[in-house]
Amino acid sequence: MDEILNTKVLSDCEDDISVAASILKSGGLVAFPTETVYGLGGDALSSSAAGAIYAAKGRPSDNPLIVHICDTSSVYELAKKVPENAKLLMEAFWPGPLTIILPKADIVPDTTTGGLDTVAIRMPSHPAALSLIRESGVYIAAPSANSSGRPSPTTAKHVSDDLKGKIDAIIDGGAVGIGIESTIVDLTGDIPTILRPGYITKRMLEEIVGPVSIDPAIIEPDPNLRPKAPGMKYTHYSPSGDLTIIEDTSHPDKVTDNVINKINQLIRDNNSTSESSKVYVLTTGDNAPKYDTGNIILLGDSSDGVTVAARLYSALRECDDKGAKIILSESFNRDELGGAIMNRLLKAAGHKVIYV
Ligand code: TXA
Ligand code: MG
Repeated sequence: MDEILNTKVLSDCEDDISVAASILKSGGLVAFPTETVYGLGGDALSSSAAGAIYAAKGRPSDNPLIVHICDTSSVYELAKKVPENAKLLMEAFWPGPLTIILPKADIVPDTTTGGLDTVAIRMPSHPAALSLIRESGVYIAAPSANSSGRPSPTTAKHVSDDLKGKIDAIIDGGAVGIGIESTIVDLTGDIPTILRPGYITKRMLEEIVGPVSIDPAIIEPDPNLRPKAPGMKYTHYSPSGDLTIIEDTSHPDKVTDNVINKINQLIRDNNSTSESSKVYVLTTGDNAPKYDTGNIILLGDSSDGVTVAARLYSALRECDDKGAKIILSESFNRDELGGAIMNRLLKAAGHKVIYV
């Protein structure tokens, strides 16, 4: 077993999961893979473990944690009321990348829910996550295992880059599959409401429970609207360089010649500055050869959103690793998974878009 600055690096084998489970049982913090992103786990019913999670991440304490479970019966212990639509969604999408918000039961400490009277619950499908929850016997509070404000981690190395020395252990289960965080749906009102888009789309939810709405505050930035998921109000995922999205107003879903010409023009404009080597383009494999630069960071395949989601956070971290000062990104279609990708990309860009 390796150790970096007192943080144990564990594998996802049975013996190592046991080590991690003991750490959680005694109130410690363990980062672990899920199918979406790596989570930073602690005992959800322990106020001090939850407090330690906020401290390790540097996370504001009003930004509640998701409670991870391995058995649907746990929902009845954690929530005061479980409406019919919750049961249907649990059955359809669990284990998997869906988080549901329900009225919280008294056993869930306020520290875990950031003082809210609701609780976020999810059953992940990653085998290492499920074994860890089962083996530890605790409900695991787990936000994404990044330092607050940085892109969510999709590999154990990302976790270690941000949190080594600040947490007890990391389970290395390789790169995650999905790459962006779970869909969050609030089930405390009359109509289920998406608070954070993700791999489980509005259409998929509607097939199970009928009409679903989207929290208006997450669609367009509007200082008068406050997102219902507290975490959605923070700037997020941002690389240190200046990220701008270039979008064709008449074809926002396509990377047209107009977009490519504009990006090439911006590359030329910056060529005269001493920082010219620090201009990078975020693009997909199919468009990469069209840019007049070798400073390319690849996102996947434009016709396959799944590959873009899986690469997105790694690509944003790569911008930092390469010291990118100016980052020019293509935009993606907003259908289905594309909506979740653009939600994250727009946040990373602070909603800076050049329309051509
Ligand atoms: O895929 C995921 O959901 C990952 C993995 C580790 O499971 N977790 C994750 O957690 O993304 P985190 O903490 O980075 O994001 C949780 C989001 C935050 O925006 C938070 O404000 C929101 O969920 N949230 C948590 N509890 C809530 C509640 N009771 N009401 C509304 N929003 C809530
Ligand atoms: Mg997060």
